[in-house]
Amino acid sequence: MAALRPAPPDDRPSVGIGMLGYGFMGRAHSNALRQIPSTFWPGGCRPELVGISGRTESSVREAATRYGFAGYTTDWADLVADERIDVFDNVGPDETHVEPTLAAIAAGKHVIVEKPLALTAADAERLLEAAERAGVKHLTCFNYRFMPAVRLARDLIAGGELGELHQVRIRYSQEWRTDPDAQLPSGAGALTIIGCHAIDQARFLVGEIAGVSGRFSSPVTTPERRHGGQPVEPDDTVAILAEFGDGLVGTIDASLVSPGRKNMLSWEINGSKGSVHWSLEQLNHLHVHRRGGGRTQGFTEVIVCEADHELAAPWWPSAHILGWEHGHANMLAHFLDAVAEDRPVDPYGATFADGAQAARIAEAVAESARTGTHVRVEPLRALAT
Ligand SMILES: NC(=O)c1ccc[n+]([C@@H]2O[C@H](COP(=O)([O-])OP(=O)(O)OC[C@H]3O[C@@H](n4cnc5c(N)ncnc54)[C@H](O)[C@@H]3O)[C@@H](O)[C@H]2O)c1
Repeated sequence: MAALRPAPPDDRPSVGIGMLGYGFMGRAHSNALRQIPSTFWPGGCRPELVGISGRTESSVREAATRYGFAGYTTDWADLVADERIDVFDNVGPDETHVEPTLAAIAAGKHVIVEKPLALTAADAERLLEAAERAGVKHLTCFNYRFMPAVRLARDLIAGGELGELHQVRIRYSQEWRTDPDAQLPSGAGALTIIGCHAIDQARFLVGEIAGVSGRFSSPVTTPERRHGGQPVEPDDTVAILAEFGDGLVGTIDASLVSPGRKNMLSWEINGSKGSVHWSLEQLNHLHVHRRGGGRTQGFTEVIVCEADHELAAPWWPSAHILGWEHGHANMLAHFLDAVAEDRPVDPYGATFADGAQAARIAEAVAESARTGTHVRVEPLRALAT
């Protein structure tokens, strides 16, 4: 029997990754990063999982082994100081997004931050300004942009295939706050935790939001309820009336008290020539209707998993469908390519500008709910030179 010969080395550019946090998103990001080298082949780059940080030594050590990181630390500043790390991937809780990311930017790292970019628009803008001034690449993790069906819908709308847009309805519903006695997995409210995804989908698919009216409701959660010792954001639901350019009006809502809706991000967009509809619960299917007449007219269910579908092509043969985690893999592959080849992250990737604009819109919604008025949303301020 012939002896095995050594495989040639993977000589694509390597990009060193340092990750803050090892919970749900830590697992999702490291799973995505590990899939990138074999899926995005022969192009792309080779993420190298250099180090991961968390507060509890035994847990972060276990996470390093489980997720495939070469090293671990209980102090995220060690990641920032490590010269082998090119990209700082912040998947810690919302409250840890600002300070460590600013430190990573100051050390010249490219930066990834899970949504929401920051809990205030002012902090989100600080992050944007710092990243732009340092000339590093930046990504806010609005991962649903990277579902193939979402990209196809965006392409159809941008290509004028729906004609003039008439109506936009976007909803994000979960159920985990319905039971008033249940242990809460998060202290964030509907707007912070999932509403920002819905807002970003609106901007990504349709365009900029010029003004909002908003209302919150809290049929279950009392202001006294606490998570990890901290008061819980009381909004169980948020309803937003969004004004886009050219008189287009749409609705965006989010709810954490919708029994039976485990994780349903869904939208329908109607135009003069047709409509598109999508739901995360059937994420591979884009429902497309084109007006044309005839007795069989109606929505067509397109399985967006063919070689000519953006984001699906690198994966599996015809209609061998994708799952939730592929959004993160597509998103992180896109970002690492932008780093390795010095290409722009936008318009498909959400940058810190998109994270900051989502934060501004959220604040405008809160102001509208407080004052009972329709609130204009300022476009992002140009950076002072
Ligand atoms: N894009 C998405 O689909 C999506 C889904 C869920 C959560 N998120 C976002 O991802 C982020 C993380 O959420 P999660 O569900 O993974 O939370 P999680 O609680 O599961 O994990 C958070 C991790 O951060 C670690 N951590 C906390 N404080 C730290 C500190 N000071 N230094 C280092 N590590 C620290 C924790 O030990 C834990 O490992 C949040 O901002 C959340 O809003 C995004």
